[in-house]
Amino acid sequence: MSQQNWGSFQTLLGHLEEGVLTLTINRPDKMNALNQAVLTELAQAIEQLEKDQAVKGVILTGAGEKAFVAGADISEFKGADVNSAMEMASKGQAIFDRLEKSKKPTIAAIHGFALGGGCELAMACHIRIATEQARFGQPEVNLGLIPGYGGTQRLTQLVGRGKALEIMMTGNMVDATNALQIGLVNQVVPATALMEEAKKMMGTILTKGPQAVAKVIEAVEACFDKTKNGYQAEVTLFGQCFGTAEMQEGVSAFLEKRKPKFS
Ligand code: COA
Repeated sequence: MSQQNWGSFQTLLGHLEEGVLTLTINRPDKMNALNQAVLTELAQAIEQLEKDQAVKGVILTGAGEKAFVAGADISEFKGADVNSAMEMASKGQAIFDRLEKSKKPTIAAIHGFALGGGCELAMACHIRIATEQARFGQPEVNLGLIPGYGGTQRLTQLVGRGKALEIMMTGNMVDATNALQIGLVNQVVPATALMEEAKKMMGTILTKGPQAVAKVIEAVEACFDKTKNGYQAEVTLFGQCFGTAEMQEGVSAFLEKRKPKFS
């Protein structure tokens, strides 16, 4: 059995075994929140894995027990303005778009919180497997914000308009059972079996014709081509949030560990 460390990153751990790359977001003390360093390394890793012939499929997960990823790093929102926020959303969207379009199959193995950018990252993977304790959500409205890394589009594609609006307008979390029911995840498994089940499903996919699997990904992607304007609208609207007093209040409240006061 061939096992090796893969890549050299500060915020990610890569491990290659039998053609399956396990890529772990590694900021457990911050619930694996996606700061700019993580996003940049994620982009590098995606480029590298696409070129690496030894990588046949990818399992994406988060370090520690508590979270897959608890969102974009809110501390980096302080001081951002409309233009830099639009750049932030465009950058995140481009990385997640590349992941979604990767010809190599990707599975998100989700335990704990998958919130905001974490839910968006999971949705950019081809398949999602979650533990019974996993919790999903797009809680950006709590901060006076909207999702900016493709969430408004991919959540709607996955669970339909009504449920997507409910999740994004209430900011409520969705537990694993519910996530399975609405089609947000493909499978729910006990925590101890998460990586084993993800590898098992990847193993099944990897026994199929790799070109056929890549073409399935491409053909399904074509189904959503017409929604491209939605992603641009998300970038603009996400940026506009950064010009509002409610967003300043929402982000300050989170960082100061208090409830926001929206007028
Ligand atoms: N960005 C930056 N830091 C984050 C974060 C995020 N999205 N999510 C969690 N953290 C940090 C916390 O600030 C805290 O850091 P500290 O120990 O230096 O104070 C640490 O991770 C642990 O989080 P904490 O809030 O203490 O854990 P909890 O178990 O009480 O709550 C969550 C967990 C996930 C419910 C809560 O952290 C949360 O609501 N996070 C934000 C989720 C969110 O709004 N995501 C969308 C962002 S656009």
